[in-house]
Amino acid sequence: MERPARLCWLWALLLYAGRGGVAAPAESQPPVTNLSVSVENLCTIIWTWNPPEGASPNCSLKYFSHFGNNQDKKIAPETHRSKEVPLNERICLQVGSQCSTNESEKPSILVEKCISPPEGDPESAVTELQCIWHNLRYMKCTWLPGRNTSPDTNYTLSYWHRSLGKTLQCENIYREGQHIACSFDLTKVKDSSFEQHSVQVMVKDNAGKIRPSYNIVPLTSHVKPDPPHIKNLSFQNGDLYVQWKNPQNFQSKCLSYEVEVNNSHAETHDIFYVEEAKCQNTEFKGNLEGTICFMIPGIRSDALNTVRIRVKTNKLCYEDDKLWSNWSQAMSIGQKANLTFYITTLLIIPVIVAAAVIVLLLYLKRLKIIIFPPIPDPGKIFKEMFGDQNDDTLHWKKYDIYEKQTKEETDSVVLIESLKRASQ
Ligand SMILES: *[C@@H]1O[C@H](CO)[C@@H](O)[C@H](O)[C@H]1NC(C)=O
Ligand SMILES: *[C@@H]1O[C@H](CO)[C@@H](O)[C@H](O)[C@H]1NC(C)=O
Ligand SMILES: *[C@@H]1O[C@H](CO)[C@@H](O)[C@H](O)[C@H]1NC(C)=O
Ligand SMILES: *[C@@H]1O[C@H](CO)[C@@H](O)[C@H](O)[C@H]1NC(C)=O
Ligand SMILES: *[C@@H]1O[C@H](CO)[C@@H](O)[C@H](O)[C@H]1NC(C)=O
Ligand SMILES: *[C@@H]1O[C@H](CO)[C@@H](O)[C@H](O)[C@H]1NC(C)=O
Ligand SMILES: *[C@@H]1O[C@H](CO)[C@@H](O)[C@H](O)[C@H]1NC(C)=O
Repeated sequence: MERPARLCWLWALLLYAGRGGVAAPAESQPPVTNLSVSVENLCTIIWTWNPPEGASPNCSLKYFSHFGNNQDKKIAPETHRSKEVPLNERICLQVGSQCSTNESEKPSILVEKCISPPEGDPESAVTELQCIWHNLRYMKCTWLPGRNTSPDTNYTLSYWHRSLGKTLQCENIYREGQHIACSFDLTKVKDSSFEQHSVQVMVKDNAGKIRPSYNIVPLTSHVKPDPPHIKNLSFQNGDLYVQWKNPQNFQSKCLSYEVEVNNSHAETHDIFYVEEAKCQNTEFKGNLEGTICFMIPGIRSDALNTVRIRVKTNKLCYEDDKLWSNWSQAMSIGQKANLTFYITTLLIIPVIVAAAVIVLLLYLKRLKIIIFPPIPDPGKIFKEMFGDQNDDTLHWKKYDIYEKQTKEETDSVVLIESLKRASQ
C-alpha cells in the first residue's frame, strides 16, 4: 500500500515540473484570459486581458505582471498595463491573477504575450538615433544610415509626445557630415507633469525599404542649454568677480557652471567648477538684473585674464548632467599694457643684440689694425697713384710713353750715324 502511494507522489511531482517554470500551486487562482497586445502612438505598447474564468467569488482579484526577466513587477487591480518601449527588440509581458496585493501570495499560472519589432532586415535600420533638447526650445535628432541601405534613401522622422495629441513628421531633414539630422520645435508646456513625459521618435524611409528605428527621449534628460552671456568682470580687493546671464528657460538652481580663466602672464588655464554661484559681497546682489555672480580669489590683476563660462543641467532638476553648453563669448580684464610690453621687449632685445655685435666687430677690426699694421705694397701704391685717373689723362700717359720711345729711337739713330762717321 505504501509503494503505490509513493509512486503516485513522484508522478505528481513529474507532472508538476513538466508544466514549466511558471507553475503555481494546485489550489491557486485560474489564469487570466484573452491577453492581447497593441501599439498606440509610436511606441506605447498596451497589454490588455480579461479576468480569469471561475475565480472564487470571495477573491478580490489582483493581477501580478512583469516584463521579460522579472523586470518591473507590479500587482494592481487593472486589467491592462502599458509601457513606452523603443520597439527595436522583442518585449514580453507575463500576467497572472491572485486574490490580494500580498507579494508573497503565489499568483496563478503566468500567461505571456510578446510584441516583436517591425518586419525588415535589422541591418537596414538606422543606427545611433539620438536626440538632444536644445535650450528647452527645439529637439534635434541625428542618426547614421544602416549598413544595408542605398545612399539615396529618403528618411522620415515621426515624433509624438503627450501634449501633441497626434503623431507629427519632422519637416526638414538635412545632412550633417556623416549624420542625418532633423529638428522640430519642442517648447516646455506649462503642464506641471510635462517633464515626466517622453518624446517618442521613429525614423524610417519613404519607400518602406528599411526597418523603422525607435527612440524614447525622456524630457528630464538630454537637455543642452544655450551658452550663458558674460556681463561684467571686475577686480575687488584682489578677487575677480564674474557676472553673467543664464540662458533663457532655465532657473539658476537647475544649472551647474564652469568658469575658465586664462592668465596671459602666468600662461595658466584654470577651470572653476561652480555648483552654486553666489558672491559673498552684497554689493553684487541686484547689481545687474537677473545675473549670476561668482567670485574667484587669487587672480593676478597685473596681467590679461580671459574668462569664458559654460553651463549644464544639474541633478537637482534633471536626470542627467552630461551635456555642456557651448562656451560663452570670452571677456578679458587686466592690463593689456603688459602684453605690449612683452611684444616690445621681444622686438627690442634682438635689435640691441644686433647693435652690440656690430659695435664689437668694428672694435675688433680696429684692434686688428693696431696689432698688425699693414705692410706697404708698392703695386698698390702705384695703383693708388694712377687708379683714379680718367680717360683724358690716359691719353696723355700714352703720348708720354710714345714721346719717350721716339726719343730713344732718335738716340739710336744718332748713335748709328756717329758710328758710320767713325768708320768713314
Ligand atoms: C475572450 O474573448 C472572446 C472573443 O473576443 C470572448 O468571446 C470571450 O468571452 C473572452 N473571454 C473572457 C474570459 O472574457
Ligand atoms: C466566502 O466568504 C464567506 C463569508 O465571508 C464564507 O462563508 C464562504 O465560505 C467563503 N467562500 C469561499 C469559497 O471561500
Ligand atoms: C502575506 O502573506 C503571508 C503568508 O502568505 C503572511 O505571512 C503575511 O502576513 C501577509 N502579508 C500581508 C500584508 O497581508
Ligand atoms: C528619394 O527621393 C528622390 C526625389 O524625390 C528620388 O529621386 C529617389 O529615387 C528617392 N529614393 C528612394 C530610395 O526612393
Ligand atoms: C555651438 O557650437 C557649434 C560648433 O561651433 C555650433 O555649430 C552651434 O551652433 C553652437 N550652438 C549654439 C547654441 O551656439
Ligand atoms: C562692473 O562691475 C563694477 C563693480 O560693481 C562696476 O564698477 C562697473 O561699472 C561694472 N561694469 C559694467 C559694464 O556694468
Ligand atoms: C584657454 O586656454 C586653453 C588651454 O590652453 C585653451 O584651450 C582655450 O581655448 C583658452 N581660452 C580662450 C578663451 O582662449
